[in-house]
Amino acid sequence: MKTLLLSKQIDDYTEQHTSAELPVLARLNRQTNLKRGDAVMLSGHLQGSFLQMVSHMIRPKCILEIGTFTGYSAICLAQGLQHGGRLHTIEIDEELQDMATEYIGEAGLNDKIIQHTGSAIDIIPTLTESFDMVFIDADKSNYERYYDLVFDKVPVGGYILADNVLYDGEVVLPEDQQTKNARAIGSFNRKVKADKRIEHLLVPMRDGIMIVRKISG
Ligand SMILES: C[S@@+](CC[C@H](N)C(=O)[O-])C[C@H]1O[C@@H](n2cnc3c(N)ncnc32)[C@H](O)[C@@H]1O
Repeated sequence: MKTLLLSKQIDDYTEQHTSAELPVLARLNRQTNLKRGDAVMLSGHLQGSFLQMVSHMIRPKCILEIGTFTGYSAICLAQGLQHGGRLHTIEIDEELQDMATEYIGEAGLNDKIIQHTGSAIDIIPTLTESFDMVFIDADKSNYERYYDLVFDKVPVGGYILADNVLYDGEVVLPEDQQTKNARAIGSFNRKVKADKRIEHLLVPMRDGIMIVRKISG
C-alpha cells in the first residue's frame, strides 16, 4: 500500500516537473477519454513527452509509426522531425481515421503526417522510404513480424522503439501464468536481446519502452 501511494506521488511529481502538455494534445487526450472505452491505449502526457524528446534528439527525416489510434503519439513524434521530414502512421481501424485526421490538422501537421488505413503487415512492405525512427505500438502478437519487416528499412544508426514491453508486469511471471499477449511480448524481448546487429535499452517508463539502435545490417 505504501509503495502504491509512493508510486502515485512519484507519477504526479514526474508529470508536474515535465513540460506541460501541448494544448492540442490535452484536447485530444480529453476527447479520446470521453469518446473511447479503450482510451488507456493512448500514450498520454508523460510517455508522449518522452517520445517527443527522443524525436527531438534524433531529428529524424522519416518516422514510421505502427498503431495510430487517435493520433496522440504521432503528433508527439512529429515534433522532432527535420525540416521537410515526414511521419507515416498505420492504423487498421478505419473508424479512428477521422478523429486522428482532425487533431493532426489542429496540430498543423497535415503536410508532415501521412495516415495509412489497413493492416500494417500489408502496408509496411509497400513503403519505399528509409525510416530513421520506427515506433511499434500495435497488436502485440505481431511485434516480431513488425521488427523483421522494418529492420531493412532502418539505416545503420537508426532507431526502433516498441511500446508495452513490460506488458503490465506480466513478462516477469512464469510463462504458464502469462496471457497470450504477454508471451508474445516476452518472445519479442528475447528476440531483441539475441540480435547482434543492435544495441538495446528497456526503459521502465509506463508499460515499458524498448529502444533499439541498429549498429549493423
Ligand atoms: C496502443 S494503440 C496505439 C496508441 C497510439 N500509438 C498512441 O500512443 O496514442 C494500438 C493501435 O494499433 C491498432 N492496430 C492493431 N492491429 C493493427 C494492425 N495489424 N495494423 C495496424 N494497426 C493495428 C489498433 O487498432 C490500435 O488503434
